[in-house]
Amino acid sequence: MAKLNFENKWVLITGTSSGLGQAIALYMAKNEKANLVVAARRKNRLEQLKKEIESSGNTTVKIIPTDLNQPQDVENLFKQAVETADIYAVINNAGFTFYGKAEEAHFNTFDRIIEVNLKAMIHLSLRFLSWFQQKGEGAILNITSEAGLVPIPYQLVYSASKHGAQAFTEGLRMENRKSGIVISSFAPSGIATEMLTKSGLDKKHPLDSPFNMKAEKVAKLAVKAFKKKKHLAVPGFINKLTVFMVRFFPRWLVAAVAERLYRPE
Ligand SMILES: NC(=O)c1ccc[n+]([C@@H]2O[C@H](COP(=O)([O-])OP(=O)(O)OC[C@H]3O[C@@H](n4cnc5c(N)ncnc54)[C@H](OP(=O)(O)O)[C@@H]3O)[C@@H](O)[C@H]2O)c1
Repeated sequence: MAKLNFENKWVLITGTSSGLGQAIALYMAKNEKANLVVAARRKNRLEQLKKEIESSGNTTVKIIPTDLNQPQDVENLFKQAVETADIYAVINNAGFTFYGKAEEAHFNTFDRIIEVNLKAMIHLSLRFLSWFQQKGEGAILNITSEAGLVPIPYQLVYSASKHGAQAFTEGLRMENRKSGIVISSFAPSGIATEMLTKSGLDKKHPLDSPFNMKAEKVAKLAVKAFKKKKHLAVPGFINKLTVFMVRFFPRWLVAAVAERLYRPE
């Protein structure tokens, strides 16, 4: 099966102002020679990224500041992206979590997690799928999480949003298996990014603990798996083993072990 080739193609990546999205953007530009459309709320960070990429290579970066909590921004991102460039691939990466007992969070936080991690991903996947079908080619990568494969106490709504994103992406791939459009998911476990420092997860699992992979390494594995059109890829040996092994244990035991691993200090 031919691999995806991003050279001189346009790739839209959400959540590119930090962490994994930023690392994927840098890898895509440097190693795959892709042109990029990048989206997030922090415009200054996107401008820095554009400067860094354009000053060191021949690829072009376009910026669309977007708040994925706003449904009109999500639709606008699709419209502006296809008006701006001939988009070949989309990477739905933006996301965030709440760490702590579920009843301690404001309901508004949970709404926002579901808006960004699930609803925006579904909206953009479906809009671009129709667009790619008209063009006869295209590819979608949804960044889910190991929290979408096993329940994670103390990140319950995040885990629920990622279970939704995982089920949606795998199902969408099957619905469109004969369309020629590539639909893949990538489910990392801990990555040393702002998501951990912003949520306080770094107090349980410090950024430099073996629990967390480096964003650059995960980005490389994500792009490689996407190029191979993987149904679902999990980066890291221990994470792969975990995802494989949990099938053989009762669900209550898996949830109990996850509760112990994530129980706040
Ligand atoms: N870090 C982990 O341990 C881990 C593990 C598994 C999966 N993941 C997944 O990896 C993806 C990237 O997360 P990360 O770890 O790289 O975290 P991060 O460094 O905090 O990056 C999150 C990105 O999402 C963007 N974002 C958040 N809310 C947004 C909104 N309302 N509108 C637009 N953009 C928004 C942020 O940009 P702005 O704030 O500028 O808008 C930022 O660029 C997420 O889907 C996450 O669930 C992370």
